[in-house]
Amino acid sequence: MMPKQTTKCRKILVTSALPYANGPIHLGHLVEYIQTDIWTRFQKMRGHECYYVCADDAHGTAIMLKAEELGVTAEELIAQVHTEHEEDFQGFLVQFDNYYSTHTKENRELSALIYNRLRDSGHIAVREIIQAFDPEKNLFLSDRYIKGSCPKCKIEGQYGDNCEACGATYSPLDLINPVSTISGATPIEKTSMHYFFKLPEFSEFLKKWTRDGHLQSEVANKLNEWLVSGLHEWDISRDAPYFGFEIPGAPGKYFYVWLDAPIGYMASFKNLCDRSNLKFEDFWDKESSAELYHFIGKDIINFHALFWPAMLHGANFRTPTKICVHGFLTINGKKMSKSRGTFITAQSYLQNLNPEYLRYYFASKFSAGVDDLDLNLDDFMQKVNSDLIGKIVNIASRCSNFITKGNDGVLSTTIEDESLWLQITGAAESIANHYENREFGKAMRAIMAQADAANEYIAFKEPWKLAKDPEQRQAVLDICSLGINMFRVLMVYLKPVLPAMSEVVEGFLNEKLSWSGLSQPLINHKINAFEPLMQRIEQSQINSMLTANNALVTAHLDQHKKVSEHMTLEAKFEPAPIEKIAAEINFDDFIKVDLRVALITKAGYVEGADRLLRLTISIGSETRSILSGIRSCYEPKDLEGRLTVIVANLAPRKMRFGVSEGMVLAAGDNDGIYLLSPDSGAKPGQRIT
Ligand code: 2FM
Ligand code: ZN
Repeated sequence: MMPKQTTKCRKILVTSALPYANGPIHLGHLVEYIQTDIWTRFQKMRGHECYYVCADDAHGTAIMLKAEELGVTAEELIAQVHTEHEEDFQGFLVQFDNYYSTHTKENRELSALIYNRLRDSGHIAVREIIQAFDPEKNLFLSDRYIKGSCPKCKIEGQYGDNCEACGATYSPLDLINPVSTISGATPIEKTSMHYFFKLPEFSEFLKKWTRDGHLQSEVANKLNEWLVSGLHEWDISRDAPYFGFEIPGAPGKYFYVWLDAPIGYMASFKNLCDRSNLKFEDFWDKESSAELYHFIGKDIINFHALFWPAMLHGANFRTPTKICVHGFLTINGKKMSKSRGTFITAQSYLQNLNPEYLRYYFASKFSAGVDDLDLNLDDFMQKVNSDLIGKIVNIASRCSNFITKGNDGVLSTTIEDESLWLQITGAAESIANHYENREFGKAMRAIMAQADAANEYIAFKEPWKLAKDPEQRQAVLDICSLGINMFRVLMVYLKPVLPAMSEVVEGFLNEKLSWSGLSQPLINHKINAFEPLMQRIEQSQINSMLTANNALVTAHLDQHKKVSEHMTLEAKFEPAPIEKIAAEINFDDFIKVDLRVALITKAGYVEGADRLLRLTISIGSETRSILSGIRSCYEPKDLEGRLTVIVANLAPRKMRFGVSEGMVLAAGDNDGIYLLSPDSGAKPGQRIT
């Protein structure tokens, strides 16, 4: 249930999803950390006992392989990434009460405790399963590490258990000519004992829990579809070698990363408790009256709103008060993309722009829903400059001199316009409610409406004109004192979003900005000299961020690879995982394939197909219609007018979404798809030999 709005001090524990310890923090991550940080800062300001904990998600095959690729131990990799992540969070003023790791003693103990409780209550099943196995690496392969041709439409280069071209789903073991993307070896089938969490035993509990006010309605509806179609047992074990925790009583078997990741929330908090006089049980006991909030992205709902509450319930711990789900970040309306330079890392942003610009911009766009959030870089610059500089900073910069120079920095003893003052302070509760409900966009609009009123008042009173008349000295002081007082209230409202600017303002006002004190104006109070609070954003800063970002993405890879300044060409380009070269062909075989330069004249979505685009292609004399599985990486309008390469003599293929008359050439893997293009000067229809 939603906690009642009371003035009583609430005990609140808040988490954000744990970032994987194998890559840099980017703006996509920051949507969540900034949202959570604003919410927790708000709760703390309102006098509640609130803790915000997080950690690096340090386990799993991906981290193990990454460490191997870099020639370091997994422990070394996660230690380095931990330091980088902490720097990034500090840079964005994300203030955790504890930032820990899942590879810790506390997490090992809590994972074992939860598992043992589940096992002792009969919620764990053990049985043999057949899996793909890489005989060269001696490693079981999850779906993402197997590639082959679709057993249905035969198209090559399909990963995992579904085909991007025809939409078929299958077991990766059914792929034609499957290869391990790790070693290039042909996977074999191998049996192994696995441990399962018997999720279906929690169906009734979850049907109720998901409808009990813990979830946004759209999330509850989505989960209902899964609950109605029936839950499956969840495989929580992985075979050695695996970077994680060995399962108690099961040598050579490890907890799947997603089993111990959410327990990492508890472990981080436990570590905080052990370092302070907080009591872990007060927050995690079944009967705890504390509130527990998990902020997450919409891609990990099942882990947090099904598996996690069931695990906690089965292990006799309390369940979350709320799972707060947000959407993804798009930049200029598109998915973040390395090739467009919009895969913006925390570092490349921070080297060029003030973190509070982004905190404010995100705040102005946040709602309590799960819709995606767009960072439009033009709008970003315009909004921050107009709201923060033009409306907020402007009030203080227009009024402060008349006080510091005109009255030795002492504010007037009266409130010049009582009704305006009451209006501005009277907005407090409704703004607080917007914050509480995670409707930060509404909160920002309400604050800016009050800022508009304050600016209109000053513009109307024109103190700078009155100041020319010595007889108006008191009037000028009264007007500007109200200006400063209104600025102070607006800064109290904005403090959860702009903590660094608030600190400077506290120095200027000689007072700590607090919600409880906001309706009492500063009367006959000494303030300090005004210091510039924030600069306007310049277009050049944004441009330089985009350029720096490209360099940084490469540099980060290089740094991990320990490549010297004199990089080899191979080191400059991250190599793809080894994939075996196909069987040799002779020249006659090759020449049978007619490759042509092609102009994409039209591109569009295909109704019902998540991965396909329909391309109209001109090869000089002819026009073709080709279905291509590149939707995840390309926007149709970006493709129109671009040259590429097609296989022109491929027999038309009937696919689920229509006939495809040829094939567009692209390289691709899990990280992206890269369409081939000829050098400039090539003409549509030219044959490639
Ligand atoms: O999706 C992810 O990035 C995961 N590392 C999130 C884990 S959240 C929690 F469960 F630990
Ligand atoms: Zn297929």
